Amino acid sequence: MQESLDLNRANWDERAPAHAASPDYAWERFIADPSFISDVVRFDLPRLGEVRDLRGVHLQCHIGTDTMSLERLGARMTGLDFSGASLAQARRLAGQIGSDVEFAQANVYDAVTALGGATFDFVFTGIGALCWLPDIRRWAQVVSQLLSPGGWLFIREGHPVLWALDDNDGRRLVIEHPYFEHEEPLVYEDGGTYVETSAVFKHNTSHSWNHGLGEIVTALLDVGMELTMLTEHDSVPWDALPGQMERTDDNEWRLADRPRRLPHSYTLRAVKRATVQSSS
Ligand SMILES: C[S@@+](CC[C@H](N)C(=O)[O-])C[C@H]1O[C@@H](n2cnc3c(N)ncnc32)[C@H](O)[C@@H]1O
Repeated sequence: MQESLDLNRANWDERAPAHAASPDYAWERFIADPSFISDVVRFDLPRLGEVRDLRGVHLQCHIGTDTMSLERLGARMTGLDFSGASLAQARRLAGQIGSDVEFAQANVYDAVTALGGATFDFVFTGIGALCWLPDIRRWAQVVSQLLSPGGWLFIREGHPVLWALDDNDGRRLVIEHPYFEHEEPLVYEDGGTYVETSAVFKHNTSHSWNHGLGEIVTALLDVGMELTMLTEHDSVPWDALPGQMERTDDNEWRLADRPRRLPHSYTLRAVKRATVQSSS
């Protein structure tokens, strides 16, 4: 597992400065317009609800653009990521826009200790987050431990059916990878990244895992969370199947041909029950 962590961290560390410089992360717009929020957070505004004055933690916050968007909606935010280079970029943007977001560097599985046992009103995560984690049940335990009673998880994520597809086919939808959680990681060699950039990378190996939707939901139910929303979408925020997708009006990506065939992404909300029910 340490090998996977090291490979993935090197991969993300190298890509973070290129992401911060890419127009796709819209850094200049954050600086120019104090009311600007990321497309990812904007997409889910109808489902997010009021976050003003709530304490939130963003797991796998990367360069912090979604974290700072939530702060702009009034939340008091902490961002956590294991990539020091990502957090360096996040802190740089925070300095440029006068953000008070606090950032912590840790593996998600160590988040409870890394955050000093603090608890939050909500946990926010997603858009290429769960695929880096080998064990969805351990992740659900961490989410539950980070939440105050009554607190909630909000996640928008690539759909596990999408993750199972061959993204090199370019023409057809071909199930190539596991849909259900698997022990051995999927090993990818990819010299590029998901944003527009001319940067050249050396650390191109990554290890990832899929988790079925039922496994994700069951992991949350098993730690005492109550599922309050699960919405599947016919779009996703990045060009997940190159050659087969086109941009939507809200800056997402959707299959050009018969998009209703594929659940592209989902938004899930789950609440930590205020009191754990006794089984006796
Ligand atoms: C695609 S980003 C997701 C963040 C956000 N959706 C975005 O686009 O800005 C994935 C992030 O997960 C982080 N990450 C991957 N594995 C991790 C782990 N085990 N613990 C903490 N962070 C991890 C990476 O460093 C990266 O910043």
